[in-house]
Formats: sequence, structure tokens, C-alpha cells
Amino acid sequence: MEKKNILTGIRPTGKLHLGHYFGAVCNWVKLQEEYHSFFEIADVQALTDNFNNPEKVRTNVREVTIDLLSLGIDPLKSTIFVQSTIPEIAELTVYYSNLVTMARLYRNPTVKTEIKQKKALFGDTGESVTYGFVGYPVSQAADITAFEGACVPVGEDQLPLIEQTREIVHKFNSIYGETLILPEPVLSENKRIKGLDGNEKMGKSLGNAIYLADSKEEIEKKIMGAVTDTKKIRKDDPANPEVCMVYYYHKLIGNSNLETVCKECKNGSRGCVACKKELVEVMMNFLKPISEKRHYYEEHPEIVDKILIEGSKYAREKAKTTMKKVRKNMRIDYFDEEI
Ligand code: TRP
Ligand code: SF4
Repeated sequence: MEKKNILTGIRPTGKLHLGHYFGAVCNWVKLQEEYHSFFEIADVQALTDNFNNPEKVRTNVREVTIDLLSLGIDPLKSTIFVQSTIPEIAELTVYYSNLVTMARLYRNPTVKTEIKQKKALFGDTGESVTYGFVGYPVSQAADITAFEGACVPVGEDQLPLIEQTREIVHKFNSIYGETLILPEPVLSENKRIKGLDGNEKMGKSLGNAIYLADSKEEIEKKIMGAVTDTKKIRKDDPANPEVCMVYYYHKLIGNSNLETVCKECKNGSRGCVACKKELVEVMMNFLKPISEKRHYYEEHPEIVDKILIEGSKYAREKAKTTMKKVRKNMRIDYFDEEI
């Protein structure tokens, strides 16, 4: 049986942190074994928010690619490509835009939340919300369907976007005949990673993220400032590891000494400073193979470019095949000859 296609995307707006890894990418690494996988560096989508900061998007295309490669996305098994190199995505977006009402877009919970955040951020009533931004779910539907993505690994916050894609697919197929593949979302097991500060989410804007590219000094600083059991005042006070972010990270990173950490925390024989120092060590060991790979790719930008070029070419062929079917069924395949 032919392998199903996976398509997922990531916006190149910053380096990746542990939240990206545990929340998404570690799942992608596993899925690439079973599926024919496409990982899109969604620069066009990143520009919907960052159109006035193109340099940021440009730099992060390579940074994010290096992060993905360092985390185990294997270019021999998967396709990593850049969204803007595939004009077929833009073309599909235009055709799909007729199949979606404005009301439906404004009702999309993901768009709704993001518009709310923008209003709060800019203190306006929403006038700064662009056409491109409100329409990005349509463009995301084009991302998914261009590569016949049957499975889309995403976080829970993205479910409304997949639902929107499914509606577009149904509508397209019912008007123009069976053409597009209906995608299914695949939720990752580990949904949301908490921050060291106790925030429910690790995020760049929250200032609580540990980046894969962080140095030992940066990691030390972040871990030493982590939120522990606030009831523990003296070094030998017994505490509750379940409310401590340091313990949460010992567990997340997979410290083999976890039981001892738990026991010693509970009986008061472990001080928080020592406990944090141990976490720094565990974290550094965890990050070591990742940073080694990172350094390798940083020193060989030509390899990174080659991976992106080859991936984008391969992805483009796939998108062209889909486009042929779409044009035929939409009755806009006027000539046999390519123009
Ligand atoms: N919107 C996604 C995010 O912000 C990124 C993305 C772009 C995506 N294109 C996609 C996800 C296609 C799944 C499928 O995380
Ligand atoms: Fe947290 Fe460790 Fe301190 Fe216990 S000893 S509260 S687990 S930092």
C-alpha cells in the first residue's frame, strides 16, 4: 500500500525552543518513518503578520530549517520546502477564496483569537487587520491540499484551521467533482509545554523559552530563575515536586534520576539550588547532540540550502500534479501546451 502523505507547516518567525520540540517536532520525527512527509517552512504565512519585517522572516527560514534538521527531521526520508517557492499554493488560494465566506473566516476561532490579540496589542478596533491575515486559513488549505496531505499533525489551537480546510475540500469536490484529498488532523500526544516560570505555555513572546541554540550560560540563568515550590523556604524544608517547574522539567527531559529527585524533595534532603544545577546538567546532556548537529549545519550553509532547494523542487512537482487535476476539473485547462 502506498504511504499516506503528511503535510505540516511552521512559521519562520524565530528559532525553535523546547516547546516546539516536545509539543510538535518530536512527533514529526516519529511520523516521518510511517508517512510520506512534507514539512513546509511557511514564509508566506509568516509574512501575513510580519509583512513589514521581511528580514526577520528571511533569516528564520534557514534558522528553522537548521533546527528541524538538528532535531531529527531527515531530508532523506522527508521533504522540507519553502512555501514561497511554490506558486501553485498562491494559485490555489485564489480559487479557494471563492468557496469561503467572510463571515465564516471571521467565525474561525483561531482567527478570532488572533484578531483579539492584535486589537489588544495595537489598542485599535481592528482596522489594522489585513485581508491577507483574515484569509490565511484559505492559504493554509492550499498548503495542505497542494501536497495531498491526508494527515496534518498540529496542535489543538490549529484544529479550526483544519476544519476550515475540510469544508473547502468538501465544497470544491461537490462543485467541481472529486479532486482534493480530505485531510485529517493528527494531534500530538504532548500538547503544551509549560514554561520554567510556571506559565501554562512556553513561548517566545512570554520570554520563558529555552532555545535549542541557547548556550550553557543562558540555560543556567533560565533554570536558576525557575519557579519552585514557593512553600519551601529553607534548603532542608520538605516540598512538593508536583508544583515545582524544576521537577516538571526533570521529568520532561527524562532525568534517569527522577525517583531520587522526587524522594529527596519530599523528605527535605535536597536543596533547590543543587536540584537546579542537576537540571542544568541533564538539560545540557539532552541538548548536546542537537547543538552538535546545529553547529555542523551552521558551518555548512550550502548543505542547508541544498536540502531546501531539492525539497522545494520535489514539493513543486507534487503541487504541479495537483494543480493539473484542479485546473482540469475547474474547466480552466484550455491548452495542452504549457504557457
Ligand atoms: N498555521 C501553522 C502555525 O502557525 C503553520 C502552518 C502553515 C501549517 N501551513 C500549515 C500547519 C499547513 C499545518 C498545515 O503553527
Ligand atoms: Fe523543586 Fe527540586 Fe526544590 Fe523540590 S528540591 S522544590 S523539585 S527545585
